[in-house]
Amino acid sequence: MSESHANAPQKVIFEVLRYIPGVDAKPRMQSYEVPAPKGLTVLDGLLWIKENLDPTLSWRSSCRMGVCGSCAMFINGLPRLACANQVAHLHSDKIIIKPLPNYAIIRDLVPDLEPFFAKHAAIKPFLIRKNIEELDNPTGEFFQSKEELVNYIQFAYCIKCGACLSACPTVATDDAYLGPQALAQAWRYIADARDEGAAEREEEIFSAHGAFRCHFAGACSEVCPKGVDPAFAIQLMKQFMFKKKLGGCKEQHGSELAPPVENWVPKKEYPKAPEHSL
Ligand code: SF4
Ligand code: FES
Repeated sequence: MSESHANAPQKVIFEVLRYIPGVDAKPRMQSYEVPAPKGLTVLDGLLWIKENLDPTLSWRSSCRMGVCGSCAMFINGLPRLACANQVAHLHSDKIIIKPLPNYAIIRDLVPDLEPFFAKHAAIKPFLIRKNIEELDNPTGEFFQSKEELVNYIQFAYCIKCGACLSACPTVATDDAYLGPQALAQAWRYIADARDEGAAEREEEIFSAHGAFRCHFAGACSEVCPKGVDPAFAIQLMKQFMFKKKLGGCKEQHGSELAPPVENWVPKKEYPKAPEHSL
């Protein structure tokens, strides 16, 4: 095989759902032939289509590096980030792309995430303190040990991509269910030693569409691109809230202010960095 032939880009078919509500009677699939050089991501392929074949194709994306969460779509049967999945890794010469299930379609691959963010807002995704003076007029930082950080840090990696809700069988049957993202974020804050907001979040968590609607299917954790494991967070929260309801948990007392850095006394001597050798 000549070198030029070996380097010639392979072609793949992108079969993409197209739909403009009010214009199209119903969603339809449209095929595009896309050159697929090594390293091409699904997002790169969509950009190539938009630049070379069809400027009307619509989707959301921003960072191109798995951080902003905006490019989640249903790719070859699973919710995935378009920017974080290479075409070659899908092991198919046909890439079928649809908007995330369980959301209304605004246009083409753009899901309506308004209900998703409303659910997120409903669980109060911020630190709640009984005395808000220190939040309004801060004089220092709330103390947090390394061990306390470990309690919630995994759940703080959520990039709000919405993939978990699109995989959840309970969301599919109950539009009002808070869903894995919001519930995992409720636990992310409740598990934070600086927070005192479990009681304030209780109404949402115990509602008919709250944590106890979760049947622990685990699909959310399977598809989460950041390893958040929302299904695990929900089970931890169920356990905590249930015990709390039965009076088996101590009252939440958020951590104190950490001493100013200049007064900080380390618990042990840390080894000094070696001298620079140059
Ligand atoms: S929990 Fe995972 S899948 Fe769900 S919104 Fe957050 S990052 Fe996306
Ligand atoms: S474009 Fe930001 S996560 Fe894909």
